[in-house]
Amino acid sequence: MNSRVTSISEKIRERTAKIAVIGLGYVGLNISISFACEGFQVYGFDVDERKIDSLRNGINYIPEEGFISEMLPRVISKSFFVSTNVDEASAIGDVIIIIVPTANGNTPTMEYLHNALNSIIKNDITGKLIVLESTVKVGTTEEIVVPALEKTGLFAGKDFFVGYSPERIDPGNKERSLRNIPKVVSGINPESAEITAKLYENIVNEVVLVSSTRTAEFIKLMENVQRDVNIALMNLFAIMCEKANIDIEEAIFAASTKWNFHPYKASCGVGGHCLKKDPLLLAHSFDGEGLDLGLIYAARKINDLMPTLTAEKALLICSDKIGKNVSETKFGILGLSYKKNSSDTRNAPAFYIIDHLKKNGAQHIYPYDPLVKNGIIQAKVSDILNSDIIILTAAHDCFSGLLDNYDGYIVDGTNTLEPSDKVIGIGRNHIDMKFKDKSFDDSVLPKILTYQKKKLASPKINHG
Ligand SMILES: NC(=O)c1ccc[n+]([C@@H]2O[C@H](COP(=O)([O-])OP(=O)(O)OC[C@H]3O[C@@H](n4cnc5c(N)ncnc54)[C@H](O)[C@@H]3O)[C@@H](O)[C@H]2O)c1
Repeated sequence: MNSRVTSISEKIRERTAKIAVIGLGYVGLNISISFACEGFQVYGFDVDERKIDSLRNGINYIPEEGFISEMLPRVISKSFFVSTNVDEASAIGDVIIIIVPTANGNTPTMEYLHNALNSIIKNDITGKLIVLESTVKVGTTEEIVVPALEKTGLFAGKDFFVGYSPERIDPGNKERSLRNIPKVVSGINPESAEITAKLYENIVNEVVLVSSTRTAEFIKLMENVQRDVNIALMNLFAIMCEKANIDIEEAIFAASTKWNFHPYKASCGVGGHCLKKDPLLLAHSFDGEGLDLGLIYAARKINDLMPTLTAEKALLICSDKIGKNVSETKFGILGLSYKKNSSDTRNAPAFYIIDHLKKNGAQHIYPYDPLVKNGIIQAKVSDILNSDIIILTAAHDCFSGLLDNYDGYIVDGTNTLEPSDKVIGIGRNHIDMKFKDKSFDDSVLPKILTYQKKKLASPKINHG
């Protein structure tokens, strides 16, 4: 066996391999702390000085990740060292993991990856394992990463090793941690794949080895595009429900009793760093192949339309229900992150909604989200509760009970609240289900399942 394979494999097995992580964002910080907790010496690098300062002070800037808040103070400067000097990563690390962004806003870009690779080739990478985790176009590892690293004059797969392992973490999801999410791994040759698999075995319960980096790149995109398309279909159903006086949640509830129906949720839009750009990464992977990728783009178009449709609901309430000018109406925006219990504001629907309201003359907009601490100017809870209309865009657990005594209008962009004359959801219709005073009495109709029963069983965010 190639002695370089033996050497890096042994270091990983004995946990003496030093791990350098380039990019300490949502994914990179998670990965770094996970390896540090398993006894590896981890060296984290990020170009953002504020992040490095924060970490040095033991402060977690991803508050929804309780695991990081708990473990960071224990590992920082003991088994986890941080720096802005990215050029040192490949001098220090036996393993170098790259987890940099692959989009600017919604637009895919490989700029950060190129920068990271340029830093890596400043040092001798003989015998090292370089793993890319960022979500990328199909073929990136072979066509961009390997040629960039071979500029050193060394041969990939022989003198050094290259793996690709897409990330699936879901920050803020308390049920699914990095450890219990199966991790897809791959390598540019069998040796690279095996070393990469051995590396990740240390921090996840299950490693799923696939035959090529192209396959692994495709899998990640496939997962996110499937989700985007399914959500778009549900959003389309919601729009149809509004026209047809049907309640989408009742329809989903009943349809879910069929074994192969998947209950995606309609909402005010899709945000985050991934779901807006990954469909484009997948589509661009097949540029010039003559494929009709209309389905992917149509889904994007529907999901991108949802914030505008949501804002329009609020504007309609101004004219039809409140009778105030838009410029005089107070709009509370509850939730600024792109999803429940997250602090991540990237591409969050709330900001598109705010833009649309402003374009239509709104002058009193009060954004509020206690989970978001990235310097965005926010209103107070009292401003929210004094608003004429609240637009709920993320149903954080911490909002529970907040709206109990609010009696203004709510546009529920999360479909969490029960619709009423004053609560307008996405594709929701307030349907009175009393069948001529016959109540749904278990003793009389024990086997009848209704959405009404489900509603009573699981109130989420209450609204008085
Ligand atoms: N956030 C998620 O939940 C998630 C989940 C799965 C996959 N991903 C993918 O993982 C990748 C990273 O996403 P993220 O959410 O962690 O991004 P992020 O923006 O939170 O973190 C990336 C970090 O990389 C840093 N960076 C940029 N260029 C650098 C360089 N040259 N050297 C060192 N640091 C650099 C940035 O300052 C930032 O802190 C993306 O491709 C994303 O699509 C993200």
